[in-house]
Amino acid sequence: MDLQTDRLRLRAWRDTDRDAFARLNADARVMHYFPALLTREESDALADRIQALIDEQGWGLWAVEVVGVAPFIGFVGLARPRFDAHFTPCTEVGWRLAAEFWGRGYATEAARAALRFGFQELLLDEIVSFTATDNWPSRRVMERLGMTRDAADDFDHPGLPADHPLARHVLYRTSNA
Ligand SMILES: CC(C)(COP(=O)(O)OP(=O)(O)OC[C@H]1O[C@@H](n2cnc3c(N)ncnc32)[C@H](O)[C@@H]1OP(=O)(O)O)[C@@H](O)C(=O)NCCC(=O)NCCS
Repeated sequence: MDLQTDRLRLRAWRDTDRDAFARLNADARVMHYFPALLTREESDALADRIQALIDEQGWGLWAVEVVGVAPFIGFVGLARPRFDAHFTPCTEVGWRLAAEFWGRGYATEAARAALRFGFQELLLDEIVSFTATDNWPSRRVMERLGMTRDAADDFDHPGLPADHPLARHVLYRTSNA
């Protein structure tokens, strides 16, 4: 199912999104808080996984289009983390946008629509978000969304070595109040 906001469409992925997705996954600014840039093959494989989940579930990490401005700027949406941690199983809200589209409020606008979908259509009680502790641009999105962090929820991401500089993560939560 597609979601619509004032400026954006959150939609199923198209094959034509893949070039732009590979470019943003190979951009050091976008991937600054991730352990590595993605190769074209890794980027396409990620798009495949995301699209398969949307096909299967009807929701997921939607491709984001700025209506009348840009056909694909990245993804925003909901996902179920595949790792085990003290807060899993859970549903997270997440985002990754091409750098030329930062600073316009698109991530927050899209994420608001994703949260609404999670609470109103999926009837979730809680949605979380997490990121490397130093990723303040992402944390600011979480805070603009009204999500709150309890330091007692901080965790080491199980996908990274414990001594990796990005290992320590913060967790934000929001409830269907
Ligand atoms: C995280 C990320 C999506 C945040 O992007 P962003 O542009 O800072 O966030 P938004 O799209 O919500 O835009 C908000 C900014 O736009 C500004 N803005 C400009 N016009 C606006 C408008 N019409 N409406 C709302 N905000 C607007 C806001 O003031 C804010 O700027 P500020 O943070 O300097 O105050 C982006 O940095 C990114 O893709 N990073 C790489 C991937 C990543 O780290 N993902 C998270 C991993 S967990």
